[in-house]
Amino acid sequence: MNNKFKNATANLKAVAAMSSNRVIGNNGELPWHFSEDLKFFKKLTLNSTVVMGRKTFDSIGKPLPKRKNIVISRSMEKRDDVLVYQNIETFLTEHSNSNESIFIIGGAQIYSALMNWTKEIYLTFIFGEYSGDAYFPKFENHYELKEIIFKNNDFEVRRYALEEKR
Ligand SMILES: NC(=O)c1ccc[n+]([C@@H]2O[C@H](COP(=O)([O-])OP(=O)(O)OC[C@H]3O[C@@H](n4cnc5c(N)ncnc54)[C@H](OP(=O)(O)O)[C@@H]3O)[C@@H](O)[C@H]2O)c1
Repeated sequence: MNNKFKNATANLKAVAAMSSNRVIGNNGELPWHFSEDLKFFKKLTLNSTVVMGRKTFDSIGKPLPKRKNIVISRSMEKRDDVLVYQNIETFLTEHSNSNESIFIIGGAQIYSALMNWTKEIYLTFIFGEYSGDAYFPKFENHYELKEIIFKNNDFEVRRYALEEKR
């Protein structure tokens, strides 16, 4: 395995939706609305922990219900309804290799910062190009496509796993 990924832990998984030109966001929002994908996201993450960057939290506007919400931010005040970490290292110290199932839900900065710790990626691949200002990091050299979970005319949901032998 590539050394960069030696600390990847089974409990950290990313879930993202990306267009064919790697866009994930535009002006702080998703550039599309696919209700079937939102349903998949909800089913996958319900009763688990979700971790996100402050900008993604702002764009959602409130904690996701029935999930433990963690926000990574240097600027956000402590609050009762989400757990705030001021840096990635403290988050990892307290959460990697735990029994907790944790989904990294974006955005671009947080996917990049946590990629080396991510064992699995649930990627909704959208068939089409979109304009945007946030992109999913390159991951294809280190992950194998394991299955296509769902497919329709607009997108397919892919599950990738970190390659074990490198
Ligand atoms: N398509 C998808 O699957 C998907 C999923 C999620 C989000 N998105 C989109 O992605 C876009 C947002 O992505 P983004 O990259 O701009 O923002 P982001 O990753 O959501 O949040 C960035 C913020 O996280 C905090 N942060 C990042 N690295 C940190 C570190 N090492 N230590 C402490 N805090 C850190 C900072 O917050 P402070 O400034 O508060 O310090 C930073 O401004 C939006 O358009 C959103 O809609 C798309």
